[in-house]
Amino acid sequence: MSQLFTPVQIGRYTLPNRLVMAPMTRSRSDDDGVPSDLVVTYYAQRAGAGLIISEGVFPSAMGKGYVRTPGIATDAQVAVWKKVTEAVHAKGGRIFMQVMHCGRISHPSLLPNEAQPVAPSAIKPAGQTWTGSGMQAFVTPRALSLDEIAGVIDDYRMATRRALEAGFDGVELHAASGYLPEQFLSSASNQRQDQYGGSVENRARFVLEVLAAMVAEAGGDRVGIKISPEMNFNDIVDANPQETYSYLVEQLHGFNLAYLHVALFGAKVDYHALLRPRFNGAYLMGSGLDQQSAEAALANGRADATVFGGAFLANPDLPERFRQGSPLNTPDKNTFYSPGPQGYTDYPLLSGLSAN
Ligand SMILES: Cc1cc2nc3c(=O)[nH]c(=O)nc-3n(C[C@H](O)[C@H](O)[C@H](O)COP(=O)(O)O)c2cc1C
Repeated sequence: MSQLFTPVQIGRYTLPNRLVMAPMTRSRSDDDGVPSDLVVTYYAQRAGAGLIISEGVFPSAMGKGYVRTPGIATDAQVAVWKKVTEAVHAKGGRIFMQVMHCGRISHPSLLPNEAQPVAPSAIKPAGQTWTGSGMQAFVTPRALSLDEIAGVIDDYRMATRRALEAGFDGVELHAASGYLPEQFLSSASNQRQDQYGGSVENRARFVLEVLAAMVAEAGGDRVGIKISPEMNFNDIVDANPQETYSYLVEQLHGFNLAYLHVALFGAKVDYHALLRPRFNGAYLMGSGLDQQSAEAALANGRADATVFGGAFLANPDLPERFRQGSPLNTPDKNTFYSPGPQGYTDYPLLSGLSAN
C-alpha cells in the first residue's frame, strides 16, 4: 500500500502527503535580494507538496553567497514573500523558509561594501564561485569575534520573526552544504580556541544557539534543521562526522523540533540508520529518491516523509504524477540559476499545458 499519500504530522502541521519539496536556490531575485513575482508563481505551482521548503534565504546581507538570491532582512523582501505564502496557502499548501547564511562560501562582490566574508576561522575554502562577472576564487574569510557571533545568532532570530510575519508556516535552519553552521560544526573549517571551537560540544554550540533563537521566535514545532553529513561540497571536512552528528542530533531533543531533514550524498555511513533513532521529531529523508525508493523508505520505517529536489523542480504536479504513475519531466540544469521564466515556471503539467 502506498504510504506517500497518507497524512503525516510534522510539528504542529498535519501534511496531507509525505512528499516534501526540497529547498532549491533558483536565483530569480534582484540584486537587493527581493524575489521577483515569478517566485510567487513558481511556489504556487508546487503547492501540492505536503510541505514546500523554500530556497535558501539569507538572514542578513552578510549571509548572501550567490547572485540573485533572496533575503528576509528588509521590508521589501518581506513584502514579496508575503505574496508567496499567500499564493501557496490559497492553493492549500504549506511552506517553510530555509534560512541560509553562506559564511565563507561567498565573495566580496556579493557583500555590502565589498566586505570580506565571515566564518568561524580565517580559512579559505578551496574552489571558485560564480560572482556575476565570471568564476572567481574564494577569498580568505574573516573570523567572527564573540560579539559578532552573538550578532549573527540575532540575525537568525530576526529572520525567523520576519519569516513568520511574511506568513511562512515555519523555518528550516540550513546546517548542510558547507555553509556557516556547518563551517562551525566541522573540524577543518573551525580552528577556534574559544567556546565555539575544538571539542564537538564547542563546535556544535553555534548551531544549537541559532536553533534556540529560532525556537524562541517560532516554537520548536515550527522549526526544522537540514544536515548532510559527509557531503563533499564547498570544501567542508569533518574528522569524525559520526561523532559530530550523533552528538548534534542528541542535543536537539530539548527543542522538540518539527523535523530533522537529512540529505546524503555518497556518504560511506548509513546516517539515516544512525541518526533517526536519536531524534524525537519527524524524520525527513532526502537526496536521490524516486517514487519507489521513497515508498520503500516509508514502508521500512526509515523516514516519516521524503524530500524531492530535481523532480519537484521539473514537475510542478509531482504528487499527481506519482499518484497516476505518469512519466516525469527531466530537470534542465542550464536553467537552474538563470534569470527569467524559462526552466522555472514553464515546466509542463501532465495535461501538456504549461503550469503558467
Ligand atoms: C538547483 C538546486 C538548488 C539547490 N539549492 C539548495 C538550497 O538552497 N538549499 C539546500 O539545502 N539544498 C539545495 N539543493 C539541494 C536539494 O535540497 C536536495 O538536497 C538535492 O537536490 C538532492 O535531492 P534530489 O536528488 O531529490 O534532487 C539544491 C539542489 C538543486 C538541484
